[in-house]
Amino acid sequence: MDTRVTIAGVEWKNPVTTASGTFGSGAEFAEFVDLNEIGAVTTKGVANVPWPGNPTPRVAETYGGMMNAVGLQNPGIDVFCKRDIPFLRKYDTKIIVNVCGRTTEDYCEVVERLANEDVDMLEINISCPNVKEGGIAFGQNPKAAEDITKAVKRYAKQPVIMKLSPNVTDITEMAKAVEAGGADAVSLINTLTGMKIDIHKKAFALANKTGGVSGPAIKPIAVRMVYQVANAISLPIIGMGGIATADDAIEFLLAGASAVSVGTANFVNPHVTAEVVKGIEKYMETYGFDQISDLVGIVK
Ligand SMILES: Cc1cc2nc3c(=O)[nH]c(=O)nc-3n(C[C@H](O)[C@H](O)[C@H](O)COP(=O)(O)O)c2cc1C
Repeated sequence: MDTRVTIAGVEWKNPVTTASGTFGSGAEFAEFVDLNEIGAVTTKGVANVPWPGNPTPRVAETYGGMMNAVGLQNPGIDVFCKRDIPFLRKYDTKIIVNVCGRTTEDYCEVVERLANEDVDMLEINISCPNVKEGGIAFGQNPKAAEDITKAVKRYAKQPVIMKLSPNVTDITEMAKAVEAGGADAVSLINTLTGMKIDIHKKAFALANKTGGVSGPAIKPIAVRMVYQVANAISLPIIGMGGIATADDAIEFLLAGASAVSVGTANFVNPHVTAEVVKGIEKYMETYGFDQISDLVGIVK
């Protein structure tokens, strides 16, 4: 049995990575999970300069998940390169750097800076619902999504994964746009915009008023979107949204994802990524699948 997958020319030892922003840059989780067991670590979004993030409170629990409006707090690319890349390089796992920005120039600056760094892939977050300028503005307009893809591709030395927003009418339009712009892969879904009100305080639960909903509650929506995108474009897909068990991950693979990311579930069970890897292996054994590609997208 072979669990290796090749995403845009990069071979991972298994199809499991971490969803950006839910695993720090790996160091916070390394005492719970052997990072050598995960196909890739996807880091928290990093910008050209440090961002303080949004005012608190910025997380809240919801049925079957949570909401966040962290606002992409990050230490900036200089600290990231000095501190986080050397840490992750100690492990036998691929490094996917999630990139955020407010303007095209911001994104390109980070991508250019990473060109000579020892990282394997870039994930461009054009889908954060919690940042006012940039981010989601690129992720909700097909023309803007195509243009930003073209722009980052001009600077990128590593394969580029464009991360899509579910907060659109037709996600296949966005997937086609980034494919036209030259993306090497897509990842989906980011969080769904939601709102929670504290009835006792008679106020919004989050200072930002709205926040991104994640966790098991969004999984059926994410599986549906992965299926739609798999049938609309020919790029590899990294599927995510509510994965908490191997069974959840397998649904995404059967729907058409070539790999999966585990996000919010890490906060509940910090060992979950390694457990998902083991569970996928068990499923392959039980049903006689020799390789991951034999199960990708077989439910039509
Ligand atoms: C606290 C938190 C922070 C996040 N930060 C980022 C981020 O920096 N960049 C990004 O592309 N997505 C970010 N996301 C979105 C996740 O990567 C993922 O797309 C989403 O949460 C759905 O997966 P899940 O239900 O497994 O969490 C964040 C999600 C959470 C819950």
